Amino acid sequence: MAKWWSEFNDDFRSHEIPYFQRFIESDGQPALDVACGTGRLLLPYLRAGLDVDGCDVSADMIAACREKATREGFSPNLYVQPMHELDLPRRYKTIYVCGAFGLGSNREQDFQALSCFYEYLEPGGTLLLDNEVPYADASQWKYWLKDDRAALPEAMRPPGERRRASDGAEYALRSRAVDLDPLGQHVTLEMHAEMWRDGTLESEEDHTLNIGLYFKNELLLMLERTGFTNIVVHGEHTEREPTSDDDFMVFVATK
Ligand SMILES: C[S@@+](CC[C@H](N)C(=O)[O-])C[C@H]1O[C@@H](n2cnc3c(N)ncnc32)[C@H](O)[C@@H]1O
Repeated sequence: MAKWWSEFNDDFRSHEIPYFQRFIESDGQPALDVACGTGRLLLPYLRAGLDVDGCDVSADMIAACREKATREGFSPNLYVQPMHELDLPRRYKTIYVCGAFGLGSNREQDFQALSCFYEYLEPGGTLLLDNEVPYADASQWKYWLKDDRAALPEAMRPPGERRRASDGAEYALRSRAVDLDPLGQHVTLEMHAEMWRDGTLESEEDHTLNIGLYFKNELLLMLERTGFTNIVVHGEHTEREPTSDDDFMVFVATK
């Protein structure tokens, strides 16, 4: 899974990189990249000379991130920690979370994560938290309705396209929704990853991923309850007000 991210996701949603970068550059260092993955954002920021640390719950993701950073001559502070149990040696002027809030956690842990972000920000520091709205994906949104939900779990999809990575192996990734709970507001996905070499399946991984589904007003209340102030919401990683047509929102909040 980490290899897939490391190899094929660097160019994914590239407009997000300058969006967060502007906040870090305007008196926002040091910064913490929460759930940094394999460094899609962190590495461009290191290249730009910014002081950014990273953390991620996955040791594989952090190892891939470290390897890429080392290859370019960087040695960032990287920590294997879940965002709701941060234990870090310094405080930050900016903490950003991109594509990860609500992943693999429950609501209580998500609240704990917000408290951790608050604790690890310097007074006056900025939290940037993005969220994909639950109605962004039509194929999943239908499962909020009782009759459509009866079709879950989805059938396993046919094997995905295999993509060749720099190590010569081919990787394939597929997922399916197995459950959606509209009352608890979470969806459960099963992910299947394969690694092939010379036409032979060398290894495969299966993961079950629980994803919390949050709406705008709910996240605003959660941030307020945690103690954040001056909360502004941006649409689609741009510094403008969100609209109903936006799939992503970014919550910008001050400690
Ligand atoms: C969709 S990827 C995004 C990675 C990176 N932020 C980016 O935008 O490229 C989600 C990342 O969140 C990490 N993650 C998931 N749950 C987490 C948690 N509870 N605490 C910290 N990291 C988590 C995963 O290991 C993965 O690296």
